[in-house]
Amino acid sequence: MAGDHRAGPGAAATRARHRGSYDDARTVVMRDLLLSVVSALTSQSGREQLDIIDAGGGTGGFAVPLAGPGHRVTVIDPSPDSLAAAQRRAAEMGVSLRAVQGDAADLVGLAGAESADLVLCHSVLEYVDSPAAAMAAIARVLRPGGTVSVLAASAVAAVIHRALAGRFDEARRLLAGLGGAATEPPADAARRFTLAEVAGLLEDAGLRPGTAHGIRVFADLVPGIFADADPAAADALLALERSASAQPAFHDLATQFHVLGYR
Ligand SMILES: C[S@@+](CC[C@H](N)C(=O)[O-])C[C@H]1O[C@@H](n2cnc3c(N)ncnc32)[C@H](O)[C@@H]1O
Repeated sequence: MAGDHRAGPGAAATRARHRGSYDDARTVVMRDLLLSVVSALTSQSGREQLDIIDAGGGTGGFAVPLAGPGHRVTVIDPSPDSLAAAQRRAAEMGVSLRAVQGDAADLVGLAGAESADLVLCHSVLEYVDSPAAAMAAIARVLRPGGTVSVLAASAVAAVIHRALAGRFDEARRLLAGLGGAATEPPADAARRFTLAEVAGLLEDAGLRPGTAHGIRVFADLVPGIFADADPAAADALLALERSASAQPAFHDLATQFHVLGYR
C-alpha cells in the first residue's frame, strides 16, 4: 500500500521477526531450562559430554539439538517411524544420534542401569501404560547425581482451555477427573497431570523433585494474530511468559509444566 510504512520487504522481515518472538513465547522457556540443566550437569560431573536418554523422544525435536554439542544422546521410542524421522533430522544437522525402539518401562534393559546423566521424559507420561512404572525405570537408568527432565500436560489448563472455548460440560467432566491421572489409565485421550501428581511420581520412584516451571502460561490463551497486528505485543508476551513461568501460582495454569527430578 502506497505510503504504508508497514509495506515492502523490510516490513515483511520485521513481521517475520515479531512472529518469531510470538513463536518463541511458546518454546523459549523450555529451551532455556534444558540449557541450564545440561550446563549444571556438565559442571557437576566435570565431563563435557553427557550421556542423555530421551525416553519417548519421538522425532528428536529435543534430542537432536542436545546431540549438537557432542553429548551422547539416545532416543528410545516404540514408534519406528518417529525414530526414522529423528535419525533423518540428526543427519540433516550433521550430528550423531542413537535410536532404539522400545518402551519407557523397559529402559533398564534397553540402556543399562545407571547409564545416564540426564533423562528427558517430555510429553510421554501421558501415553505410557503406567506412569509409575515408567518413572521407576527412569530412576534406575539415572546415575547417582543424575537428573530427569519431565514435561507434562496440565490437567488444570485443560479445564480452563475447554471453558474458554465455551465447552463447559467437557470442562466440568475434566474437572471431575482432576488428580486421578497418575493412577487411572487414559480413557479416550492422553492423560493430563497436576504438578503435585508428577512430584508424587518422582518421589515414589526415589527421586527428589526440584524446580518447576509453567510452560505456555499465556501463549496458548492469546490469539496469534497479536503478533502481526501489534508486533511489540509479541516481545511483551515473551517477557511475560518468562516471568510467569517461574511463579508457583501459575505452574498448573500453564498448558504444560516442567519439573526436574534428582537422583
Ligand atoms: C507427544 S510425543 C512427544 C515426543 C517428544 N518427547 C517431544 O516432546 O517432542 C509422545 C511420544 O511418546 C512415545 N510413546 C508412546 N508410548 C510410549 C511408551 N510406552 N514408552 C516410550 N515412549 C512412548 C510416542 O511414540 C511419541 O513419540
